[in-house]
Amino acid sequence: MSTHKLPEPDKTSPLSQLLVKRRSVRKFKKESLKLEALSRILWATYGITERNRRVVPSAGATYPVEVYVFVKNVEGLNPGIYKYNEREHSLILVKDGDYSRELARACLDQNWVREAPVNIVITAVHSRTTEWYGDRGFRYIYMEAGHIGQNIYLMAVEAGLGTVAVGAFKDEEVADLIGLGEEYLVLYVFPIGTPY
Ligand SMILES: Cc1cc2nc3c(=O)[nH]c(=O)nc-3n(C[C@H](O)[C@H](O)[C@H](O)COP(=O)(O)O)c2cc1C
Repeated sequence: MSTHKLPEPDKTSPLSQLLVKRRSVRKFKKESLKLEALSRILWATYGITERNRRVVPSAGATYPVEVYVFVKNVEGLNPGIYKYNEREHSLILVKDGDYSRELARACLDQNWVREAPVNIVITAVHSRTTEWYGDRGFRYIYMEAGHIGQNIYLMAVEAGLGTVAVGAFKDEEVADLIGLGEEYLVLYVFPIGTPY
């Protein structure tokens, strides 16, 4: 077997620098999040680019994902659970109030979920993808969530913020907090804030 040494990658480009700086952050300052920062990060989850495409790939362009936001402390937004409407780039209030404590409990008491000014919850209506691809569609949905997660990490770094991918949670408890039915999968939770 022969080995081929690769040329040193250029790590100075803006994207490379974001990749270098990406780290999971679990300690956040108590300060509020700016609405502009939340807007950028939400656009990076499932925002529209051109001709109705999104910032992430989607198997067969089935777009099963729905993004929810638990707001605890964001300038210009009342605490609440919101749904991200990517077509209008807007937030729709689902439920009034700060549910960070309940969300943290559903995430096996992970402190960073309770302390973050915002948590983004990635969910999916699985039938949108599985009706085309059968059981393999589930795999595609998990892969799509990964694309979204990396975008959140990188946009957070660019905005001077931090996040951590949280996969340890009780699906049903998170779904109940939002009021999601059985057709939904809860895929990921991303607490976001200013790194301490
Ligand atoms: C699918 C997945 C699930 C994860 N779940 C959690 C979690 O529940 N809680 C947590 O603190 N970190 C979680 N992490 C973050 C990892 O612990 C972290 O990425 C890893 O330690 C590497 O550190 P880095 O992200 O700073 O490079 C998860 C990461 C992935 C990819």
